[in-house]
Amino acid sequence: MDIQVHGAGPTAEERAAVDELLGAASSGWDGGERDIARDGRSARAGRAARDQRELLLPALHAVQDRVGWVSEGALNYICRRLTVPPADAWGVVTFYHLFATEPRPRTVAHVCDDLACRLRGAERLCAELEDELGPAGEAQAESNGTPSNGTWLRSPCLGLCERAPAALVVHAGAIRETATLGPIRDALTISRALEGDTTEFFTQPAQRLQALRRSVPQAGSAGLKLLSRVGSVDPTSLDAYRSSGGYAALQRAIELGPQGVVAELAASKLVGRGGAAFPAGRKWEAVARAADKTRYVICNADESEPGTFKDRVLLEEDPFAIVEAMTIAGFACGAEAGIVYLRGEYPHAEVRLRQAIAAARAAGLLGEKIAGDGSGGFRFDIEIRRGAGAYICGEETALFNSIEGLRGEPRSKPPFPVEVGVFSKPTLVNNVETLANVPWILREGGAAFAATGTPDSSGTKLFCLSGEVTRPGLYELPFGATLGELLALAGGMLDGKELFAVLLGGAAGSFVGRDRLALPLTFEGTRAAGTTLGSGVVLVYSTEADLGDALLRIAEFFRHESCGQCVPCRVGTVRQLELLQRLKRQTPIGDRAREMALFAELAQAMRDASICGLGQTASTAIASGLALFDPFPGRPAMPDRAHLEEGS
Ligand SMILES: Cc1cc2nc3c(=O)[nH]c(=O)nc-3n(C[C@H](O)[C@H](O)[C@H](O)COP(=O)(O)O)c2cc1C
Ligand code: SF4
Ligand code: FES
Repeated sequence: MDIQVHGAGPTAEERAAVDELLGAASSGWDGGERDIARDGRSARAGRAARDQRELLLPALHAVQDRVGWVSEGALNYICRRLTVPPADAWGVVTFYHLFATEPRPRTVAHVCDDLACRLRGAERLCAELEDELGPAGEAQAESNGTPSNGTWLRSPCLGLCERAPAALVVHAGAIRETATLGPIRDALTISRALEGDTTEFFTQPAQRLQALRRSVPQAGSAGLKLLSRVGSVDPTSLDAYRSSGGYAALQRAIELGPQGVVAELAASKLVGRGGAAFPAGRKWEAVARAADKTRYVICNADESEPGTFKDRVLLEEDPFAIVEAMTIAGFACGAEAGIVYLRGEYPHAEVRLRQAIAAARAAGLLGEKIAGDGSGGFRFDIEIRRGAGAYICGEETALFNSIEGLRGEPRSKPPFPVEVGVFSKPTLVNNVETLANVPWILREGGAAFAATGTPDSSGTKLFCLSGEVTRPGLYELPFGATLGELLALAGGMLDGKELFAVLLGGAAGSFVGRDRLALPLTFEGTRAAGTTLGSGVVLVYSTEADLGDALLRIAEFFRHESCGQCVPCRVGTVRQLELLQRLKRQTPIGDRAREMALFAELAQAMRDASICGLGQTASTAIASGLALFDPFPGRPAMPDRAHLEEGS
C-alpha cells in the first residue's frame, strides 16, 4: 500500500527521532527518497506493512520525547514509514493525553490536581501557578530559536499520591529528562524545575532514602513479604537481589516443571490484585493449555486509578522480582515473549526495569537458553511498552489494542485474553502486585501462602494511603486487618482532624463512612459491605474536606477517560457530570428528587449496558457518596437515603 500523505514533511530533528527507532528509510515506499528504477518494481504491502503497526506508539513517543510535540509533518513521516493511513494515526495520537498535537515548549510540568493532591493543596498551587506563570499550557512555544521556560499543565493522578501535591516535569530532547516533584510547597518549586533546577528533590542519596521512607513507612520492618527488600536491597543490583533470595524461585520452578508451578499457584489461592480478583492459578492453567503455541505474558503496569501507586513502588524498588515472576510465568505457560505495559508517567520505574531486564539478560536469566546447559533450557525475554496517558489502557483488552498501535478501546469479551489476546494469541495478563507474589509462593510453597490472610483472601495486600492521614504511603498488611488498624498504622488523622469518610478502591470504588472502621480489608469482607478493595486505594477525608468537590472530580475523571466507544458510558459520564454541576449551582431540573431519580437511571444504564468495567463502575463512587453525605451542604436538603438506595 503506498500511503499518500499531503502537506508538511518532518523537520530534520523529527526525522532523526523516527529513524533512530526504525532505522533509515530504505525506499520511496516508506518515506525515503523515491527511486523509480527501484521502487517502481517492488512494493511493500499486506502483512509486511501491517506487522509494523505495533511500532506506531513507540514512534509517537520517539517524536514527543525528542521534540516535545508531534507535528503534522512528523505524523506524516511516521505514517509513511509504518504504512498507516494518516486519519488512522491521528485517531491514535489524539487518544493519549501525553502526546501534544499543537506546539508546546520542550519543558512541561504536569501538575496533578486529582483526588489526593486536591486534599493537599493542589488547587491553591494551580492558582499560584496561574498568577506567576500564566494559565495552564499558555507559555509560548519556541520562537526565533529562543527556547521559552516551558509551561505547566494540569494532570490526572500521577501515581505519586503519597507525595501530594505532586508534579512530573518532562524535558524533551535528544535524551528526555524527567523529574518527579512532591510534596510541592509552592509555585516557585515548579518555576525552578521548568528552568532545570530540581535539586530540592532527590539529588543526594540521603534525600532519596528519606523520600523512600516517606513513601514506604514500613520499610525495613520484619514480616513483610512484598515490601521486604524495599530500602534494604539495592534495586539496581542483580547480585544484591540474588543474595536476598532472588532467583531461588525460578530454580524451584524448573525443578517443579510447568504443571507443578501452576499447581503451586492454584494451592496458594492467589487472586489478581489488578481489581477483578480472578484466581491466578486458573488463568495460568488456561494459557498453558491453549491450543496455539505462540503465547504472551503481559505485566499490567498501567496503574492509573486515582490514588494508586503500589505498582510504581514495586517496580522502582524491587524490579528483579517482577522480571523473575514474569520469567516463571513464561516457563509455566509456555510463552516466549513477555511485555511490560508501563504507565507513561513512570519514568523512574522504566529506568529501573530496563536496568533489571538488561542485567538478567546479561546473566542468562532472560534470552535464548535460560537455565540451559546447551542441551536444554527455555526461551523467554521481556520488552517494555510505554503507555501515553490513558486510564482505559489498563483494561486488559484496551491494553492489547494500545500495544498493537490502535486506539486503546476495549474489545468485547469473550473471547477472553487467555484464548485470544495480544496479536490474537493466548495471553496471560497479570497485575504487577499479583506477579510480585509469585516468587514467594514458589520459594515457600502455595500452602504456606494460603495460610496467611483469610480462607478467601490469601496472602498480604498492599494499600495506598493518601489524603488527610498523618503518614501517607504504601503499607503491606495480611488480609483481614481492619480499616481502623490500617489507619492507625498510618498515624491516624492529619493534624488531629476528625475522620469523615474513606474512599476505598479509588474512583471506581466507593466511599465508606467512619462507622466502618471495623471493616475487614478482605475481598469477601468488602464485598459483603457493598464496597470493594479495588486496586488498594485508601483515600482519607476529614470532616473539613470538600466532598462535593471530590464527587465532581470523580465525575470529571470518568467523562474524560471514557473511550467513547459505547453510548451508555460516552453519554452517561457526561450527563452524570452535568447533573452534579446543576446540583452544585442549585439549578436542578425539576427538584432534587427528580435529579436523584435521573442519577439512579443513568447509573443503572451505565452499569448494565457498558462494554467494559470503566462504564460499569463510573457511578459507583458517586452513588456511594450521595448516599453517605450531602455533597453541597448549606443548600436545600438532599432527598433521603432510602430514595437513593432504592434507585441505585
Ligand atoms: C477501566 C479499567 C482499568 C484498569 N486498569 C488496570 C490497571 O491499571 N492495572 C491492572 O493491573 N489492571 C487494571 N484493570 C484490570 C485489568 O483489566 C485486568 O483485569 C488485570 O490486569 C488482570 O490482572 P490480575 O488478574 O493480576 O489482577 C483495569 C480494568 C478496567 C476495567
Ligand atoms: S464502557 Fe466506556 S470506556 Fe468502556 S468501552 Fe464503553 S465507552 Fe469505552
Ligand atoms: S498523584 Fe495526585 S492524586 Fe495521585
